[in-house]
Amino acid sequence: MAIKTAPASFVQKTSEWVRKPKRIDANMPDYAKACKNFKWKNVEKEFDWSRTKKVNIVHEMIDRHAAGIGKNRVALYFWDPTPSALYPKGRDEKYTFMDLKKESSRFGGVLKKYKIKKQDRVAVFLPRTPELYISILGLHRIGAIPVPLFEAFMEAAIEDRLSDSEAAAIVTTKSLLKRVPLGKLPHLKHIFILAEGEASQANDETSLNIQMHDYHQEMEQASTQLEPIWMTVNDGLVIHYTSGSTGKSKGVLHRQYAMVGHYQTSKWVLDLRQDDVYWCTADPGWVTGTSYGIYGPWTLGISSVVLGGRFQPERWYQAIEKYQVSVWYSAPTAFRMLMSHGEASTKKYSFKSLRHICSVGEPLNPEALRWVRKVTGVAPHETWWMTETGMQIICNYRSGDFKIGATGKPFPGTYASVVDDAGKELPPNTLGHLVVRTGWPSMMKEIWKNKPKFDEYFRIKGWYLSGDTAYKDKDGFIWFAGREDDVIKTAGERVGPFEVESALVQHPAVAEAGVIGKPDKLRGHIIKAFISLRSGFGASDNLKKEISEFVRKNLAAHAAPREIEFCERVPKTRSGKIMRRVLRAWDQGLPVGDISTMEE
Ligand code: WT7
Repeated sequence: MAIKTAPASFVQKTSEWVRKPKRIDANMPDYAKACKNFKWKNVEKEFDWSRTKKVNIVHEMIDRHAAGIGKNRVALYFWDPTPSALYPKGRDEKYTFMDLKKESSRFGGVLKKYKIKKQDRVAVFLPRTPELYISILGLHRIGAIPVPLFEAFMEAAIEDRLSDSEAAAIVTTKSLLKRVPLGKLPHLKHIFILAEGEASQANDETSLNIQMHDYHQEMEQASTQLEPIWMTVNDGLVIHYTSGSTGKSKGVLHRQYAMVGHYQTSKWVLDLRQDDVYWCTADPGWVTGTSYGIYGPWTLGISSVVLGGRFQPERWYQAIEKYQVSVWYSAPTAFRMLMSHGEASTKKYSFKSLRHICSVGEPLNPEALRWVRKVTGVAPHETWWMTETGMQIICNYRSGDFKIGATGKPFPGTYASVVDDAGKELPPNTLGHLVVRTGWPSMMKEIWKNKPKFDEYFRIKGWYLSGDTAYKDKDGFIWFAGREDDVIKTAGERVGPFEVESALVQHPAVAEAGVIGKPDKLRGHIIKAFISLRSGFGASDNLKKEISEFVRKNLAAHAAPREIEFCERVPKTRSGKIMRRVLRAWDQGLPVGDISTMEE
């Protein structure tokens, strides 16, 4: 990558600051001091395993709280007012840490009964419900590795993830099961199925030697007491599949030790305290929904809110008011959607309970920040991190002044910077690779069964290469600039162009497809596909719709192109690589640059 000075438009000339009162009651009152004295070894002491040497995150999240202050404290508030066959009045439930200990013991027992072993991978493919959280906790109890799958995924996406992880079992619902291609998954032995009103196929054995178990029936018979399986800090914790620019999605494996990072960042970045009601809006299908929807808040013993169902602005406002949410972790796209819904409806609700807001997933644009601050009285704080980093790395902190638009400063005990191709740190206002010094607690352990992919991140000695570009200003703030690969961020979700292209070429009309992210005000980027048609097919708006629908049905709704442009040929290099750089230039009507490597 050519290194250049950050374009003038990037460098804020008159930075607008968010100033904080001198004395603020934050868990980390002074960033500079915190950095100076910081040792991860000291954080380890907060965990029982530092004394007992017996490691299991479910003990640190649930059991140790259930045995003390958390016995009657609510761990999980769940609300989904949408009526369903099983819940005609919707759901409005509370689970204490003790309840979660019992329920996760039950599910752990069910898994043991069917011989699911320590470090087996088990997919959890469920809508956001208490059962999703209980399943993940139950898997941790027996030392298995959950593979959370976002509920919008369709068959092709499910097949890739289940076969790559060689999942031994899946927990899912009767309707989601239709998207699981059972005949193509030789490793899959058990299905734990949640009925949705009607009877399930309890204990049916399919012709494929896969056993079906009725989740609720099994849970009823199981014991509420099960000791966790003890492990070491290096044992696997969770696998999240995420996208890169080439190839299929990759399984990012984290280890138990990651909890040290989740815990401390939840304390200092989310600023969580014992009396908080915390709401992380992310689904556990994405890393934010586990690191900060499960591991961080619960290792701290904090009450968490989970909202089921689809995004609805007014329901979100209602949730904040109903639960008196005090700390809120969400994403720029969500803020922008609330903003586009209008300010009038915000007037009907009270946001007085809110004392801290954080944002993640894409750059938080100043307009959205100012709007949220105006409506709630609290400015959202940026947090930058990735599936691979497992925890927040570059942030703005509750106690510190920050510049609107800046991504923030490295978390104490971590070091992030901007470097050139050789790994040399660059002077202020110079654009370069955004990197993190290797060795923070929740750095991914491996890319599942893919050492070469793992090694790509560590090409520059001593650094983890994020794939983002950034620059640092003279005050030490890091400013995110963009991606340097073809990964697309759409509505905060990470989509790999290759996965979408692979889905597109399955359509009978599509000869070739090239996919890019196109800048969009609401979603950050939308997915745009350039398509050349097979002979015999004519370009039409109907065909565009049909092709987009095809991706929606086979891969996932969020990965379906919102825009399609037909072209004569998709530009490729002589070795057959799609030149997405050229597609981006076409899209923006800009010069295509150097095309000497393009095929004739
Ligand atoms: C990519 C990682 C881990 C949280 C969810 C995203 C982009 C993330 C920010 C931010 C600008 C951001 C980066 C990063 N990103 N946070 N505060 N400002 N960009 O995890 O799906 O693994 O995506 O999201 O491009 O590389 P992810």
